[in-house]
Amino acid sequence: MKKTPSTIWPVIAVDRKATKPLHKQIYDAYRAMVVDGNVSPGQRVPSTRALAVELKISRIPVLTAYSQLLAEGYFESRTGAGTFVCDSLPGQLSRRDHGDQRMNGSRSGSRSLSHRVSLLPRLERRPWLGGFGAFSISEPAFDEFPFQVWSRLVMKHCRGLSLAGLHYGNPLGFGPLREAICAYLRTARAVRCDPHQVMIVNGSQQALEITARVLLDEGSPVWLEEPGYWLTQHILTGAGCRLVPVPVDEEGLQVEVGIKSFRRAKAAFVAPSHQYPLGATMSASRRLQLLDWAQSARAWIIEDDYDSEYRYGSMPVASLQGLDRNSRVIYIGTFSKTLFPSLRLGYVVIPEDLVERFAAVRYGMDISPPHFFQAVLTDFMREGHFARHIRRMRQLYAERRRALVDAIKEEFSSALRITGDDAGLYLAVILPKGLCDQELAARAARQRLWLQPLSPAYLGADRRQGFILGFGGTPAQDMPKAVRRLRSVLDAESLAAAGSVKSG
Ligand SMILES: Cc1ncc(COP(=O)(O)O)c(C=O)c1O
Repeated sequence: MKKTPSTIWPVIAVDRKATKPLHKQIYDAYRAMVVDGNVSPGQRVPSTRALAVELKISRIPVLTAYSQLLAEGYFESRTGAGTFVCDSLPGQLSRRDHGDQRMNGSRSGSRSLSHRVSLLPRLERRPWLGGFGAFSISEPAFDEFPFQVWSRLVMKHCRGLSLAGLHYGNPLGFGPLREAICAYLRTARAVRCDPHQVMIVNGSQQALEITARVLLDEGSPVWLEEPGYWLTQHILTGAGCRLVPVPVDEEGLQVEVGIKSFRRAKAAFVAPSHQYPLGATMSASRRLQLLDWAQSARAWIIEDDYDSEYRYGSMPVASLQGLDRNSRVIYIGTFSKTLFPSLRLGYVVIPEDLVERFAAVRYGMDISPPHFFQAVLTDFMREGHFARHIRRMRQLYAERRRALVDAIKEEFSSALRITGDDAGLYLAVILPKGLCDQELAARAARQRLWLQPLSPAYLGADRRQGFILGFGGTPAQDMPKAVRRLRSVLDAESLAAAGSVKSG
């Protein structure tokens, strides 16, 4: 059966005292809407009777206006179905003219923006962000997601939608979910917390934004890992902070260097369990050094614990927050890697004395997180599916990562150096000297191979060239083929480079 589009009520006002007759007012209003493209071809319009009631006028002027619009081809009537905006409009030309005028009109005059937004670089859609596929770093194993269980819980909550769930919620999030997350973090991540310190957020990105608003001012100096996570850089740039890049090595953030370059920083943003993007795990001595620094400098540490559930050589490393005896660590986690990123759910563990400050900022931002998926996730965790899923995925990702490492070694021998493959859902490869990762990534994107270049993760000029290769979304058996494609892109570039040397 053909679906009839539902009626959308247009915004039409008529003025009974105006000299223009009512039927002409209705005709003009509809014609303008059609010509401006504010109603779409095929869209149903209200019946004459319903519109007359809505406008509180007699039906006659509405009938007159409709018959004129029908006669001129703006409307068409379908027997038994009603009246519709015509599928092939006579006003196409005038719509374009009209549309152009509107666009030009809307650009005139001065258009001053906030200082804050002027600090941010424009969000460019770089070529390598054009799609998902073999090496996507934001793709967990969707193919192994427990859809049946998840859908069952979604359906259960659809059917039993509670009235309580329709109200504004607590700015810190849904109580039962905060309890479930707290229990998980205590056991699995050695985080020291009580449920009232846990805030549910729309992904760790929102956690970073709230944290920055609570702790930092314009001009506040902050340490950032170099290279680091570009969205942390983005938020702190937008907040007007002074970014102090602190290099990382195989032991994580080089605290000593940070102290030398800017001891009095107000905060340090780190991912100690799995540094992004080079993958180091911060050593015990660096952790203690960082905590000591924070205490002596009266600074804060923001721990981004985004994918530490997955470790391959050993058990997951305990959180930095769990070592902190001075409540100087704000701990951030996410379900983007353990479940899926469009869920937009994450959490912050807030030092006791700052809970109300975080709640106040959150309240002014979006009041509270949406209820529905918090309720679904609570059940998913309480019924044990979350823990089970992580156990299964640990095994699966270990296989996918092994397959990627083997294929890289097979195809590239030692030409690509692998780093950071002990944990998480990606590893990094360092390119031989002379190759440019962004050029290669743009070239690969033209062949629909999406590679995340390493060099944009640096703030300073001294940038290593490489790629950050995700392996979470690609089945082990597909990995060799994907790596062969990667090789074909790199080979092409090497040949081109060699060619230019010869011809030069
Ligand atoms: C370093 C880092 N932190 C956090 C996240 C997750 O962010 P979100 O929870 O906003 O999806 C990612 C995602 O790729 C990441 O790479």
